[in-house]
Amino acid sequence: MSKLFEPVRLGALQLQNAVVMAPLTRSRATTDGVPQSIARDYYEQRASAGLLIAEGTQPSAGGQGYARTPGIHNAQQAAGWRAINDAAHGKGAKTVLQIMHVGRIAHPLNRTIADAPVAPSAVRPAGQMWTDQKQMQDFPTPRALETAEVKALVDEFVAASTLAIEAGFDGVEIHAANGYLHHQFLSSNSNQRTDEYGGSVQNRVRFTAETVAAVAAAIGADRTGIRISPGHMFNDIADANPTETHVALLDAIPTQDLAYVHLMLPDSFAPQLNNAGDVDALRKTIRAHTKGNLIAAGGFTKDKAEAALASGELQAVVFGRPFIANPDLVARFKNNWPLAEANPDLFYTPGAEGYSDYPAYKA
Ligand SMILES: Cc1cc2nc3c(=O)[nH]c(=O)nc-3n(C[C@H](O)[C@H](O)[C@H](O)COP(=O)(O)O)c2cc1C
Repeated sequence: MSKLFEPVRLGALQLQNAVVMAPLTRSRATTDGVPQSIARDYYEQRASAGLLIAEGTQPSAGGQGYARTPGIHNAQQAAGWRAINDAAHGKGAKTVLQIMHVGRIAHPLNRTIADAPVAPSAVRPAGQMWTDQKQMQDFPTPRALETAEVKALVDEFVAASTLAIEAGFDGVEIHAANGYLHHQFLSSNSNQRTDEYGGSVQNRVRFTAETVAAVAAAIGADRTGIRISPGHMFNDIADANPTETHVALLDAIPTQDLAYVHLMLPDSFAPQLNNAGDVDALRKTIRAHTKGNLIAAGGFTKDKAEAALASGELQAVVFGRPFIANPDLVARFKNNWPLAEANPDLFYTPGAEGYSDYPAYKA
């Protein structure tokens, strides 16, 4: 009997099945970060999943880095999310908002404020990012945060999480993966601080542990999740010992009380983007240090998902790219229908095309 289609409980979140939609940045909000009606359509179409983890969303104007990403720091944004949550709940899905501060992964042209992007240290990431005005542009060098500003960012996550719950989300996911602000604090190459937030591994995990504790205290640990991607080198992250860092992080947070820990596998996109070594060994280590629910993403198929649920390694399984072109992914898995392929050229373009116009399967 497949556990994939059975109800499962993650903390306060009672899910209709164990299929989770991954957070997917799709850049369809207004330039002010307000989610639009096409986003409501898109999420509602995918709400046969047990849980929708809504795309990375900035907790403040300063947390934005990419063009047209949504926010959760004012009433218009909350109203946009409210419509999405009502639609998704109407189809049975639970919803969680991924709160994402990009840190140094930002270009001024994509932001609504003039302030320079901030990071643990003034270390410019290698690489470029898209801007609507000038296409691909180098990342600028970020400004290093003052110690007091780090503490203020924890408060910013609390305010955004509280607003997310007011906007109808069932929980929030703190984005500590994929090279964004929290991952920049965790990683030895991007964090060169000499205060209590840098240097030793205990200091590098402090900002993330404080964020989790403060958000959990505000909205409930059982509505709080965290996403990690140990060893994932996306966005110029190269931690000297990612497994050690993430073990210290998991040991510093109340994993037994959280809704879930969400692992994104470091080889999700390419083997050369992984510096954590053997991925099976990493999975075992993360499982051992997660005392509550563990969910994971990265190249899962129906078969791999069922195996991970059956062994007890995972309590739910997260699918990213498969959800883009298969709004009815759950039904396709159930019936063994073929999966459609998404068009990557339309991942981040404005409008409904390549977003809310992928049809359900017709048998
Ligand atoms: C278009 C696109 C956008 C993404 N946006 C996010 C994001 O906002 N936050 C995040 O944590 N991961 C993001 N990811 C990573 C996915 O959540 C997922 O972990 C990854 O695609 C691996 O799972 P998959 O093999 O099932 O696609 C994104 C991936 C893609 C392809």
